[in-house]
Amino acid sequence: MFPNEMQILQQLAVLVVCRSLATGQISSRYFFPQKPMPWVKGREYCQSHFVDLAVLNTEEEYSALLSAIPTNNASFWLGLHKKSSGWEWTDGEQLRLTHWYNYNHEGHCVSLEAMFEEKDKLLARYCNEQHRVVCQGPVSPQSVSVDFVNIDHVNLSWNISALMQTTSHYYNVTICSFICETLSYFYTNGSSLMSISVSNLSAATEYFIYVSAVVIHLDHGTNRKWILQDNPTTLKAKTATSNKTHKIFFIVSNSFSLVLLASSFWCIYHIVKKETVQDTSSVDSTIAELLPHRSGSEKLENVIF
Ligand SMILES: *[C@@H]1O[C@H](CO)[C@@H](O)[C@H](O)[C@H]1NC(C)=O
Ligand SMILES: *[C@@H]1O[C@H](CO)[C@@H](O)[C@H](O)[C@H]1NC(C)=O
Ligand SMILES: *[C@@H]1O[C@H](CO)[C@@H](O)[C@H](O)[C@H]1NC(C)=O
Ligand SMILES: *[C@@H]1O[C@H](CO)[C@@H](O)[C@H](O)[C@H]1NC(C)=O
Ligand SMILES: *[C@@H]1O[C@H](CO)[C@@H](O)[C@H](O)[C@H]1NC(C)=O
Ligand SMILES: *[C@@H]1O[C@H](CO)[C@@H](O)[C@H](O)[C@H]1NC(C)=O
Ligand SMILES: *[C@@H]1O[C@H](CO)[C@@H](O)[C@H](O)[C@H]1NC(C)=O
Repeated sequence: MFPNEMQILQQLAVLVVCRSLATGQISSRYFFPQKPMPWVKGREYCQSHFVDLAVLNTEEEYSALLSAIPTNNASFWLGLHKKSSGWEWTDGEQLRLTHWYNYNHEGHCVSLEAMFEEKDKLLARYCNEQHRVVCQGPVSPQSVSVDFVNIDHVNLSWNISALMQTTSHYYNVTICSFICETLSYFYTNGSSLMSISVSNLSAATEYFIYVSAVVIHLDHGTNRKWILQDNPTTLKAKTATSNKTHKIFFIVSNSFSLVLLASSFWCIYHIVKKETVQDTSSVDSTIAELLPHRSGSEKLENVIF
């Protein structure tokens, strides 16, 4: 495939996966339109362009939004409002975060006050006030479980959040050993679990797997198609290793073409070791390891082993 590289890299293996984005494709989880609007209008806007107003079910999501939000004077509507049962996110989940800055008993809609120094920035306000909004894009799985792995077959499953259960979407699953393959899986029903089975992979004892949620939006005004994609959830799946026989190394690059949206470009860099597998008797047990974080935009990730 790459004869020169093969020679140079006989003892060193490198695998680079880069995902560049097509026109109209955005890779992010939160979006910050400029225009101030009342809460209900803001929700409609987010639903027609993205997924919904931002829903923050976990501390991790709250922190992720704080690090992404423009720190200017603005207040941003979130997808959090008061129902008869209490404070509820627009996906139907109850509020679990305790980050109230202030709690106005008459306000039924919640904004995030980006300019506050405090960590607690939630503020209940009157819903007809006009503020900017935080729109929510698709969300990749929180974690992925490897149900089965052998030298050419991987079974994966993940929970679907309430938000994604009500959103038509699909997952792009990239599985890399010494080459990468990307497959798309549509979420078709109201199930809370997605399970996939990928067979006929190029034989390997170790796979790097990237699962990202994708939503496609057709803008009826301009008739343009927007592809919204969250950063991938990253994991490694390993068959129980047979002893090393010999190693084969490749360089793989999906695409290196630079795109205008540089921040929407993610790149994963691995030092990869591939062992040819001759002993298939020892591959029936499974070691699956979740890498500690998602690979974010422009973040390079090194895994050396
Ligand atoms: C922030 O708001 C205050 C009061 O509304 C205003 O005086 C100040 O100029 C604003 N700052 C910025 C950076 O917009
Ligand atoms: C899915 O959710 C169930 C119940 O909360 C949990 O036991 C399971 O570990 C989750 N699976 C994954 C892959 O996160
Ligand atoms: C998802 O994968 C398919 C190939 O299976 C590819 O054509 C498509 O561009 C990918 N979509 C995104 C958003 O990466
Ligand atoms: C949804 O699909 C999953 C498999 O992906 C299946 O286990 C489940 O039974 C389906 N649920 C419904 C309601 O069709
Ligand atoms: C992997 O998934 C496929 C399809 O759901 C299933 O038929 C197969 O039994 C699974 N393999 C294992 C080892 O669980
Ligand atoms: C896997 O490959 C074999 C032989 O090439 C083919 O017969 C089979 O249909 C393939 N299975 C899948 C699930 O693609
Ligand atoms: C791998 O090699 C070690 C030591 O060389 C040996 O003890 C072990 O049994 C071998 N494992 C397998 C699966 O062959």
